[in-house]
Amino acid sequence: MKKISTIKEFRKWRENISGSIGFVPTMGALHEGHLSLVSESNNTCENTIVSIYINPTQFAQGEDLDTYPKTIKSDLDKLSNYKVDCIFLPGNTEMYPDGINTGNYNNNLFNLLEGKSRPGFFKGVTTIVAKLFDIIEPSHAFFGKKDFQQLCIINKLVSDLQYPIQIVSCPIIREKNGLAMSSRNKYLTEHEYSVAATIFKALVSGKTLLKNGELNCEKLKNKITKIINSEPQFKIDYVSVANRNTLEEIEGKLGGEILVSVAALLGQTRLIDNFTYSLSDLHNC
Ligand code: PAJ
Repeated sequence: MKKISTIKEFRKWRENISGSIGFVPTMGALHEGHLSLVSESNNTCENTIVSIYINPTQFAQGEDLDTYPKTIKSDLDKLSNYKVDCIFLPGNTEMYPDGINTGNYNNNLFNLLEGKSRPGFFKGVTTIVAKLFDIIEPSHAFFGKKDFQQLCIINKLVSDLQYPIQIVSCPIIREKNGLAMSSRNKYLTEHEYSVAATIFKALVSGKTLLKNGELNCEKLKNKITKIINSEPQFKIDYVSVANRNTLEEIEGKLGGEILVSVAALLGQTRLIDNFTYSLSDLHNC
């Protein structure tokens, strides 16, 4: 596992690599969710490159940039169980030599859902992902459905800017209690950790409603909201039912491919989770 922290050295190393290259961009504090992407890359590609970089432009003022968990030693240990050909660990001066700023790319998905609550977030994400794509030049890149909107936005970025990269979407990996794994789960107290699983329970109940034929959007949202609010520690940011492709909110009668997503604060920790559901056929994920 080659460790590289400069673009110059990376490009030199990259010259001698042949065959498909799977890329897994991360911000570190690795957990089974990240590792599932690495494993998928190992199964799909001849080479796998992982990046660890806490990208300052996707954190708003007052967010957790300074306290974001840094566990580099254990990250490297975890990655050593996989075939990782190179781990790219750049610093800020490498990624933002002219200071911390963002590029011009924008698309119509930026200001919906997460973007409403976190203005500038997707500007930061697309800035860094585009820079990393330009440096790494992978054939494939792996993203988790945990951050479903991020995945949609990266797909659109690749199509708009015509990157010759195949985006592979990977399922959400969960803790035993159902909580979607996240680096930010480290912030939760033991009690909050068990309460946090309520979000998954609410989504499961929502999915059951759909399976039983419920087509009323408000009823679906109310059910999910009620279950989450049964734990008074939660402060819901949104419970959304949207078109899975356009991410536009649905009102009234449900149909087509839908994305049901939730964001809620538990103490200081912001949790997100989702599922997609197809009302057009019997195949659901
Ligand atoms: P980070 O939160 O570290 O996540 C890196 C990748 O792991 C993302 O594709 C994310 O969707 C995926 N992931 C996180 N938790 C997961 C889970 N429980 N199951 C499956 N996949 C999961 O997302 C980012 O970093 C950053 O925005 C980044 C893309 C690296 C740009 O800075």
